[in-house]
Amino acid sequence: MKPTKSDGRRFIITSFFFILFLCTLASINEVRFDTLLRFGRCALSKVPSQTEKFLTPNDSSSDDIRILLGILTLPDQYHRRHFLRMIYGTQSPVGAKIDVKFVFCNLTKEDQKVLVALEIMRYDDIIILDCKENMNKGKTYTYFSSLPEMFNGTENETTPYPPYHYVLKADDDTYFRLENLVESLKPLPREDLYYGYVIPCPSMDPFVHYMSGMGFLISWDIVEWIRVSDIPKKHLEGPEDQVFGQWLRDGHRAKNRFNAKWSMYNYPEPPTRCTHALWPETIAVHLLKNQVKWIHTLQYFNVTQNLKPSKLYHIP
Ligand SMILES: *[C@@H]1O[C@H](CO)[C@@H](O)[C@H](O)[C@H]1NC(C)=O
Ligand SMILES: *[C@@H]1O[C@H](CO)[C@@H](O)[C@H](O)[C@H]1NC(C)=O
Ligand SMILES: *[C@@H]1O[C@H](CO)[C@@H](O)[C@H](O)[C@H]1NC(C)=O
Ligand SMILES: *[C@@H]1O[C@H](CO)[C@@H](O)[C@H](O)[C@H]1NC(C)=O
Repeated sequence: MKPTKSDGRRFIITSFFFILFLCTLASINEVRFDTLLRFGRCALSKVPSQTEKFLTPNDSSSDDIRILLGILTLPDQYHRRHFLRMIYGTQSPVGAKIDVKFVFCNLTKEDQKVLVALEIMRYDDIIILDCKENMNKGKTYTYFSSLPEMFNGTENETTPYPPYHYVLKADDDTYFRLENLVESLKPLPREDLYYGYVIPCPSMDPFVHYMSGMGFLISWDIVEWIRVSDIPKKHLEGPEDQVFGQWLRDGHRAKNRFNAKWSMYNYPEPPTRCTHALWPETIAVHLLKNQVKWIHTLQYFNVTQNLKPSKLYHIP
């Protein structure tokens, strides 16, 4: 039978209702947004791609705080990374999207090329910087200054700007409690911010001198400033976290500072002026140098309390 005009019209009408149906489905999935607004935009835009986007699960909402938690470590620390993946993979703070990434310099051994590549295939949580592993020769600079280009969103137009509101640089012997971290960040500015545990240990003034390497956080605008400013470039050598504080001082950056002491502290044993007892208000515990300290800390914070019951195991 030859297609008639009315067949064509029926096809158009059917397609229209099908598109309408897809849009409605998409709108229902989007809990947070005004349905009508969405609907209007959906109907106006190129339907297939928009529909696909709306149908993807809403893993985070647009006003979540976006945080990059970069843990500086060494390529050979496979066990440490595995452990930290469990530690952070079992925390799901509300109101934030936190990407945990392990950060190190160029690989140097044949086995690393296989093992690290496998890790990336499985977890995709590794950043390899263009540098040689070093303690006091600018790894921190390379880390921050590489990020704007790495997360430059142009190839994928859906990437928000800034890609992260905040970037953390953390030690691999620090335990962050993400929910408390997020709660403490919620009232703080998202610009020109420098956050952490101020050194020296007894000091409570975040404007002298700098934040401890246990883990400090800066806002994305400071990350971008580090990339373009001459001040860090001219001063790369020295104790990394102290040098970092000097960049900000010399560049008159970080008008906003937040001293998270005593929510951040060194593990209580052995006691020093930097230690604090474990307590519920904790954001980060540092110097978890061995298994005993980790276990004690995890027990204190009841991290396995919500293990779901099952016939498959029994843990007294
Ligand atoms: C979408 O977001 C809402 C509210 O934020 C949440 O209740 C729901 O579980 C989310 N859906 C998915 C698939 O993540
Ligand atoms: C790191 O590796 C890249 C790619 O293999 C190489 O181009 C670069 O020169 C290396 N950088 C250093 C500092 O060794
Ligand atoms: C990001 O990409 C744009 C367009 O390709 C480019 O102009 C800009 O310089 C890039 N920014 C960085 C920090 O690499
Ligand atoms: C851990 O659980 C115990 C028993 O339920 C409770 O008394 C304690 O306050 C919890 N500790 C923390 C840090 O929440």
